[in-house]
Amino acid sequence: MRPSVTKSGAACGAEIGFDLAQDIDDPTFREIECIFHDNIVVVFRGQQLSNERHIEFSSRFGELEIHIVKKYLLPGFPQILLISNIRNEAGEHIGLADAGFTWHTDTSYRRRPSRCSLLYAKEVPHRDGVPLGDTVFANTIAAYEALPEPTKRRIEGRKAIHRYSARRRVADSPRPKLTAEQLSETPDIAHPIVRTHPYTGRKSLYVTAGECIGIEGMPEDEAVDLIAELDAHCVRPEFLYRHKWQVGDLLMWDNATAMHLAICDYALPQRRLMHRTTVIGTVPF
Ligand SMILES: [Fe+2]
Repeated sequence: MRPSVTKSGAACGAEIGFDLAQDIDDPTFREIECIFHDNIVVVFRGQQLSNERHIEFSSRFGELEIHIVKKYLLPGFPQILLISNIRNEAGEHIGLADAGFTWHTDTSYRRRPSRCSLLYAKEVPHRDGVPLGDTVFANTIAAYEALPEPTKRRIEGRKAIHRYSARRRVADSPRPKLTAEQLSETPDIAHPIVRTHPYTGRKSLYVTAGECIGIEGMPEDEAVDLIAELDAHCVRPEFLYRHKWQVGDLLMWDNATAMHLAICDYALPQRRLMHRTTVIGTVPF
């Protein structure tokens, strides 16, 4: 079975027709990888993946990261992070309940941020038959290319400073506070605002207002305004794809060329459960 491609018709996103439970030889994997790079966000619908298979497929893209919040790792499978609003009998969340409520890219606070993330939908909340908890993606290649030339010149060679704790959380976030040791593992880190994709060479914007606190060598006021301007530019409607989830979706996105946002329009008893793997990427350049 060869992978088939159906584009979303939006600024990014495509559905790949392929059963991930089967063996994937190298040429087929390369084909999937190319489709992924071309479309930035891809979904394999109707998958029935074991935890092992989810990890195995993800590992084809590189080494997997163990998330910094250890409380929500799937027991026995630390490569899988649970993202969920479900609570156990003791009333505690079983997974990260506030993941991605502001625009961001995954683990940009790392020296080697995530190459890609793979989210497998186990439970999807619905209201009146309509799926809730969509994820929205912004194509930051298209956003970069659409920038006015003076702005491109202004940001050329500049680096934004990313901070783990900069992102706003929900007011009653159940996320455990990082220990002093964990915080020391995530010092502020500067990455180029204009990234070059390590596989395709394409340029994209790599900056979000939620995670960047400044720009190296630029006065703070000016930097904060510029970051806000670039962030707002990236999420203009023409750069977006909005994913409507189905149980069995294995969705993956390229953290070098997309920002994403989780829409929280559901609440218990509407349950949402996702299994996430995260592939470590290269140092941005
Ligand atoms: Fe995320």
